[in-house]
Amino acid sequence: MKTLAPSILAADLLNLGAEIKKIEDSGSKYVHFDVMDGVFVPNISFGMPVLSAVRSCTDLTLDVHLMIVKPNKYFKELISLGADMLTFHLEALEHNEIIEACEFIHKEGKRVGISIKPNTPAEAVFPYLDMVDMVLVMTVEPGFGGQKFMTQMMEKVKAIRAKNATVDIQVDGGINNETIKVANEAGANIFVLGTGFFKAPSTPTIEALLNEK
Ligand code: DX5
Ligand code: ZN
Repeated sequence: MKTLAPSILAADLLNLGAEIKKIEDSGSKYVHFDVMDGVFVPNISFGMPVLSAVRSCTDLTLDVHLMIVKPNKYFKELISLGADMLTFHLEALEHNEIIEACEFIHKEGKRVGISIKPNTPAEAVFPYLDMVDMVLVMTVEPGFGGQKFMTQMMEKVKAIRAKNATVDIQVDGGINNETIKVANEAGANIFVLGTGFFKAPSTPTIEALLNEK
């Protein structure tokens, strides 16, 4: 399955309901929800109350990207508020904690993603590929929307895809009508767009982005 995962970090938060509606109208299957704590990344975004609000207005898959230290402290509450998928950063947990995190989230009936920052090699996720539903390869340094796509990250996408044909590979950061094609060819299948979705002159669809010349 290929889909856009529009990131509400770039949405008009005063009109969040209408912005979520745009995501639904675009045919996207995921809403990407960026949680930042000002410690794991140098920025703070939003958390529990906003997650509940989003959950109350859509049935789309709520894809929560945790850019926080100690993400495992919050899995239970995030699930109780309606998260469908929890992605934590490999850099935020020890090896045993990663295994426990995957087990816990699956036991709760939710999907698990593991994310790597630009300086973390693809090989670091290899031990976990059979335990996760998705690998998120960051294509910018996490923390802010509107940054430039790092093409070098495509080597990591290719290496993960070569190792595992079925795991979902998500790319996040600087995805637009040009970089989405590069990421798609490398083997990614879930495309996070913040600026590229909410600040575009007209709301994009995945078909238009992948097929337009
Ligand atoms: C950045 C976040 C992204 C962000 C992407 O740390 O993880 O999800 O919203 O924004 P754009 O698409 O503007 O690069
Ligand atoms: Zn994100």
